[in-house]
Amino acid sequence: MAPIASDDAELERGLLSGTPTNKSAKRRRLFGPCSATRTAMALIVLLTILAAFVYSVFGSPAGSKPLTPTLNVPKEAQLNWAQYSPYFPVDPYRQPPQGCNVEQVNILQRHGARFPTSGAAARIKSALDKLLAVREFTDHRLDFLRTFQYDLGTDDLVPFGAAQSFDSGAEVFERYANLVSEKKLPFVRASSSERVVMSALNWTQGFSASSHHGYNPTLSVILSESSNDTLDDNMCPAAGSSDPQTSLWLSTFAPPITQFLNRGAPHANLTDTDTFNLISVCPFETVSEERRSKFCDLFATQKGAFPGFAYSGDLDKFYGTGYGQELGPVQGVGYVNELIARLTGTPVQDHTQTNHTLDSDPTTFPLNRTIYADFSHDNQMIAIFSAMGLFRQSHPLNPTKPDPERDWKASGMVPFSARMVVERLRCGRIPSVRILVNQQVQPLEFCGGDRNGICSLDAFVKSQTFATSDGGGDFEKCFA
Ligand SMILES: *[C@@H]1O[C@H](CO)[C@@H](O)[C@H](O)[C@H]1NC(C)=O
Ligand SMILES: *[C@@H]1O[C@H](CO)[C@@H](O)[C@H](O)[C@H]1NC(C)=O
Ligand SMILES: *[C@@H]1O[C@H](CO)[C@@H](O)[C@H](O)[C@H]1NC(C)=O
Ligand SMILES: *[C@@H]1O[C@H](CO)[C@@H](O)[C@H](O)[C@H]1NC(C)=O
Ligand SMILES: *[C@@H]1O[C@H](CO)[C@@H](O)[C@H](O)[C@H]1NC(C)=O
Repeated sequence: MAPIASDDAELERGLLSGTPTNKSAKRRRLFGPCSATRTAMALIVLLTILAAFVYSVFGSPAGSKPLTPTLNVPKEAQLNWAQYSPYFPVDPYRQPPQGCNVEQVNILQRHGARFPTSGAAARIKSALDKLLAVREFTDHRLDFLRTFQYDLGTDDLVPFGAAQSFDSGAEVFERYANLVSEKKLPFVRASSSERVVMSALNWTQGFSASSHHGYNPTLSVILSESSNDTLDDNMCPAAGSSDPQTSLWLSTFAPPITQFLNRGAPHANLTDTDTFNLISVCPFETVSEERRSKFCDLFATQKGAFPGFAYSGDLDKFYGTGYGQELGPVQGVGYVNELIARLTGTPVQDHTQTNHTLDSDPTTFPLNRTIYADFSHDNQMIAIFSAMGLFRQSHPLNPTKPDPERDWKASGMVPFSARMVVERLRCGRIPSVRILVNQQVQPLEFCGGDRNGICSLDAFVKSQTFATSDGGGDFEKCFA
């Protein structure tokens, strides 16, 4: 089940795709012309050893083939799955401009695709029970329900999500191999949920496989979700929820779809909430079973269903831990202060969610690495984006009227396996910062980002006053 390529398969792939390297060509010239046969034999042995060494250490130059399967659903349709959309890069990766080199990388990543949470699974089952109790469907589009069985698990990473994480680790090695050495392996942390830990582990496997097992990072720190944890939104009991806004939107978009279902399934008595949970079966079944769910086809016949579902996710993130939640952004402050510590190479200064015991110990919070990878959740990533000033909106999202031009979209911000990458650059002699969210370069208008989205490190740190002031009094309100 684990999408871990075996060593042999990996090695074979590398050897098959390999081309001679400059290194082996150079070594060849060291041999004199004296004994032709001996030289030739020695050469063959040496080249074989060299080839094995080169592929085990540097990986195949062409890069490895992704493990994540394609789902039989068009990308545009998947982007309506909000936070249950699989990761797609928003833009192709752009190298930093001439004169700038990447010297440090900070990755914050959401776990890969998972089953519904236990709460969501219970709501899905309750809606399905009503629907499956119906004897005679009067709409043939519901006929598939006669033989339908729901058998998804809860909470955990699914194989598709493990593959996404594996591919992501492989991509990071390929992209940033020049930052990696035996002493400078990625430093990896994860929040303690099983799916987050499994994502981190699969990521390290992908990284390792991509280096042909030359570099084998490990998961070094697991932050307990029942105590101080900068990778989870578990420490602000007074924070509100997005329920008022998502309920209002549900009562706006769902009624015609609920009517459609109740007409075709007499006496099912489905509510709008049931409708919402039935729509969610489309993404969950598709990513879990790696084939298009019948519920995708069913709701594709209802024009408003998926756009309505998508906007519900956007509202949920905005009013859950984003700018629309008074105590949302403060929950991202601890991570931002850790990020500043790494970018500047100075100890963490934070009085919010950080664990001081861990962050003051160089074995659990080193400052001398070049790649850091942290594994987290969508709601926490939204809090972090909002604490930093990313995706700031000119006006709050309207709970009854989506703005078609909005750039606050859960599928682009926190899909399964979402990632924010903060690159520390050196541009000439100036330490600088660039931020990519799902590979899209962010404008960083809050620190005077130039046309390449680059700020000086100094300007970036100065812009982060919300974090450096411990949330300007908001953290105390979490316990008020
Ligand atoms: C990758 O994730 C899967 C869950 O889908 C898990 O079973 C497996 O153990 C993970 N791999 C590693 C190396 O942890
Ligand atoms: C980083 O710091 C740790 C702890 O001080 C030390 O053990 C390790 O050798 C250092 N690593 C590098 C690459 O300098
Ligand atoms: C801090 O981390 C240590 C080491 O993991 C753990 O034992 C301790 O319980 C944590 N404390 C808090 C308050 O999170
Ligand atoms: C739906 O509601 C009707 C009328 O209130 C009731 O007779 C019927 O038993 C209900 N059906 C289900 C499946 O709950
Ligand atoms: C955990 O966080 C609380 C709230 O900021 C803080 O008072 C406490 O010192 C922290 N504990 C540790 C071990 O860092």
